[in-house]
Amino acid sequence: MSSASTHQAADLITEAVVRNLAGTTDERLKEILTSLVRHVHAFAKEVDLTEAEWAKGVEFFTAVGQMCTPTRQEFILLSDTHGLSSVVDVLTQNKPQGATESTVLGPFYVPGSSQRANGESMAEDDPDTPAHITGRVLALDGTPIAGATIDVWQTNSTGFYAVQQPGEQPAQNLRGLYTTDAEGRYHIVTVRPVEYQIPTDGPVGDLLRAEQRHPWRAAHIHAIVGAPGFERVTTHIFDAEKPYLDSDAVFGVKDSLVRTFSPGTAQDGSPIFTLSHDFVLVPAR
Ligand code: BEZ
Ligand code: FE
Repeated sequence: MSSASTHQAADLITEAVVRNLAGTTDERLKEILTSLVRHVHAFAKEVDLTEAEWAKGVEFFTAVGQMCTPTRQEFILLSDTHGLSSVVDVLTQNKPQGATESTVLGPFYVPGSSQRANGESMAEDDPDTPAHITGRVLALDGTPIAGATIDVWQTNSTGFYAVQQPGEQPAQNLRGLYTTDAEGRYHIVTVRPVEYQIPTDGPVGDLLRAEQRHPWRAAHIHAIVGAPGFERVTTHIFDAEKPYLDSDAVFGVKDSLVRTFSPGTAQDGSPIFTLSHDFVLVPAR
């Protein structure tokens, strides 16, 4: 156990490090590093961190880094599962009333989705019942925005993104870049989202198991919606009738993003789900 005098000695080290950061020319970087050093040192003192425990910590962060590939981002997973991504989201994305709220990006966004025509299905390889999502992209005052882009991605009905299953799923399966028409309308054709497990075969999975936590994300569709002159929003549509809305593994659920899909019938009589959903953008600030 450490004593008052060892804590005082530790405080002297903290202050020495902070003094050494004084020359950092980028003022914001200096502010961030100074605070980070103070908080990390305070954490070590608060829990009386042992050498063996910190060695284990270094081993863990090393494993997180070694798990990363161009298509697997274990650090994002660590940040997401421990709420840091959502804390940064709420701190930075405080939208005015009525605007579509943002939520986590997650590690499976891949730029370069195929342009899709309104009404075109992005379910290239999924036998599930089609889901038609229609609506408009609007400005805060209700004016429709023509030419807005909606970059959409979701898992297939077995719970995997195309980027997780190269060779098994077509690379553009359940991804698409839709554009609103002259009246600001869009029409996405997809399948209803399913709840799915975030990857647990790496160090973050080991940590979740140690924490006795489940790895499930509530069923959702991702969208990045943007238009010239407006703030881009990274958001989700959550399915109101699927589980884990109250215990999403990455703390991404916001009530305003939860929607109910309705059973319906296509023109040829086959079953479909439908959802009407408007995205509302904030002018660029
Ligand atoms: C996702 O929704 O794709 C996601 C978000 C955070 C962690 C893992 C997956
Ligand atoms: Fe997701």
